Amino acid sequence: MDERKRRLVIAIDGPVGAGKSTAARRLAQALGYIYVDSGAMYRAMGWKARQAGLDLHDRGRLVALAAATDIRVVAAAEGPRVLMDGKDVTAALRTPEMDEASSVVSTFPEIRRRLVALQRAMAKEGGIVMDGRDIGTVVFPDADLKFYLDADLTVRAARRFQDLRQTGTPIDLDAVRVEVARRDERDRGRETSPLTVAADAIRIDSTARDADGVLRVMLEAVQHVLKPDKS
Ligand code: DC
Repeated sequence: MDERKRRLVIAIDGPVGAGKSTAARRLAQALGYIYVDSGAMYRAMGWKARQAGLDLHDRGRLVALAAATDIRVVAAAEGPRVLMDGKDVTAALRTPEMDEASSVVSTFPEIRRRLVALQRAMAKEGGIVMDGRDIGTVVFPDADLKFYLDADLTVRAARRFQDLRQTGTPIDLDAVRVEVARRDERDRGRETSPLTVAADAIRIDSTARDADGVLRVMLEAVQHVLKPDKS
């Protein structure tokens, strides 16, 4: 196949507030690829568990619920939508309560296995950018390109604070900082598929780099993969 027409699988991992979703969305847009926010799938699972009134630590009932759940991320003009059993739940997922619920349900290996299978199914045709915590390490260990995006905790907490403010959530910066640090610790410390840097990932620090700067680094790496002889 003509290398330039190859449709890549691109993985972006990193902690809360590193700028993954902005980078992934813009990179997908620039390349004409689909963008899948895998965190939204864990959020949808947390939301369903809450709606069902489940204790988030009740592993048996959570796993049964996950087995009977279909979660898809589909492209739409206003950005990707999360369909859970066919219902659009996107608007309910970006709340502090779902930050916490998704981080807890994502610690269970059975839930991860179910969602990883759905994530792999979405990448069959290539032409996809997926962001999350284990995309380059577990979901697509053979991805064509892997990025690991990070930034200082203070900057990441400030970004998360802005996101929450924009959705009208009353919250203070110190509380957000504590919540981000706690979620980092859980995501990095869990036994199954913890957040780590894949050995072959390109690391990008977004502390002092804006979204355009991050996108530039990513697009250069894409060009390098598509035209390796022109490096
Ligand atoms: O990216 P996010 O903040 O929307 O993700 C919410 C939670 O989901 C995060 O705290 C950990 C979990 N998650 C995960 O375990 N693996 C992924 N690939 C994506 C998210």
